[in-house]
Amino acid sequence: MNTHILNYDQIAPDYNQCYPDSQNWERGQALLQLAKQVKAKTILEVGSGTGYWLNLLGQVTDGLFGLDYSMGMIRQAKGQPAPLKLSRGTGTQLPLRSGTFDLLYCVDAIHHFGDHRAFVAEAFRLLKPNGALAVIGHDPHAADESSWYIYNYFDTVYDTDLRRYPSGKSLLQWMEQEGFKNTSVQTVEHIKNIHVGEAALKDPFLKHNATSQLALLDEETYQAGMERIRQTLAEANAKRERIVFRSEIDVKMALGFKP
Ligand SMILES: C[S@@+](CC[C@H](N)C(=O)[O-])C[C@H]1O[C@@H](n2cnc3c(N)ncnc32)[C@H](O)[C@@H]1O
Repeated sequence: MNTHILNYDQIAPDYNQCYPDSQNWERGQALLQLAKQVKAKTILEVGSGTGYWLNLLGQVTDGLFGLDYSMGMIRQAKGQPAPLKLSRGTGTQLPLRSGTFDLLYCVDAIHHFGDHRAFVAEAFRLLKPNGALAVIGHDPHAADESSWYIYNYFDTVYDTDLRRYPSGKSLLQWMEQEGFKNTSVQTVEHIKNIHVGEAALKDPFLKHNATSQLALLDEETYQAGMERIRQTLAEANAKRERIVFRSEIDVKMALGFKP
């Protein structure tokens, strides 16, 4: 039963912990390169969260706009060094003027928007001619269940992700139907985390509210998944086997240009 939703207002104060200074994010480099390619003066991130990527794009322009559903996340984004123009709204109905942006993108957010096609249509409306739309994130349709151990241990999570996330193929189709040209999908980052044995229990992504994947589970289903992990560990220990919990995720970027 899916009774939880991830409450971004609640996790907002700690959200930036997922962006340690030591990490050089390749998806950020892909965004920077794209912003330079389209000579972006005005940029909008939809589902902009704490403004981490917008702040990075401050290297290219100070015309930085963010829209998010969560006021808690918007409050955090106000603390970024780059001055961001932030508003509250939803990804399928963007309260902004047509033909305003050179670059419009979302990162790890489209699966929350519900109607993905409506977001693509709104993006087309808001972009200037020659502007680019980039949708960055995980595509469970291009992965299999064994790529992320959470899919194996927690009931319903993989199937729910297949429903929530659009495939790269669908995104390209919608982009083309809305009028985008030169569409493409590429992998912009490969995440690889290997947890050996009991160390898996310290994986921060195993917390009930750390990702929307687990936050969507009710307490009983979540605890059943945790129990399955503990059971597997106990069995491996009894046999003196080394058990590995693997998270290997390709981060994709679907891209299209408004003629
Ligand atoms: C996983 S976070 C990603 C935040 C940011 N893009 C990043 O990569 O750090 C997803 C974001 O989408 C926002 N969100 C959820 N539903 C939304 C909606 N319907 N419209 C706009 N933003 C939404 C959440 O509040 C949250 O800030």
